[in-house]
Amino acid sequence: MRLPSPISPSYSEGVPLRMTTRTIATRSEAATQSVGRALAPLSAPGDVVVLSGDLGAGKTQLTKGLAAGLGVAETVTSPTFNILLVHDGRIPLYHFDLYRLDDAKQLDDLDYWGTLEADGVSVVEWGDRFERAMPDDGLVVRISITGDDERTLEVTARGLRGQVLADAWCAACAELDDVSVDGVRDRS
Ligand SMILES: Nc1ncnc2c1ncn2[C@@H]1O[C@H](COP(=O)(O)OP(=O)(O)OP(=O)(O)O)[C@@H](O)[C@H]1O
Ligand SMILES: [Mg+2]
Repeated sequence: MRLPSPISPSYSEGVPLRMTTRTIATRSEAATQSVGRALAPLSAPGDVVVLSGDLGAGKTQLTKGLAAGLGVAETVTSPTFNILLVHDGRIPLYHFDLYRLDDAKQLDDLDYWGTLEADGVSVVEWGDRFERAMPDDGLVVRISITGDDERTLEVTARGLRGQVLADAWCAACAELDDVSVDGVRDRS
């Protein structure tokens, strides 16, 4: 099994890829769902999105939108007690919530990395609790509560796939109502 490396940036033929961060602001719950929905047509098997932020930040609202865009029919809730809930859509949605995980070793029992590399898109609420859970390639979205109905999403792209996804996602989000998208900041 491929051993996950910690949060170092990914390398492509020995050239380190830049980690860039963009900011998406939403002004309603529906807008955050729309931001999630905009990721659905871009998502491919093996894509990983880590969602971080306080309780009630909006991680599940974003996931609900992504699920709707993938054609998931059932209701999506935080899989806090289940750790992983799988939803059937255009491609499967693997929805993790690591809030109640005590130890990173439990990720092995869950076949965490096998699932991330499987046939669906994986969303990991509270993935930032464990360095080992962070993807080499993909998106890390930190959601902050900036007002009663306002949230700020800091989107950090990791690796080549992360860059491609972040570019396309932010371009799509710029078209949405009650959403604003800021420019790219280089974090390398
Ligand atoms: N702009 C917004 N975007 C998302 N949610 C919002 C927004 N404004 C208000 N809310 C409210 O914030 C709450 C977000 O809840 P949600 O379950 O998505 O949080 P969470 O980050 O998944 O929390 P937890 O860590 O407990 O699973 C909901 O009650 C939602 O109505
Ligand atoms: Mg949640």
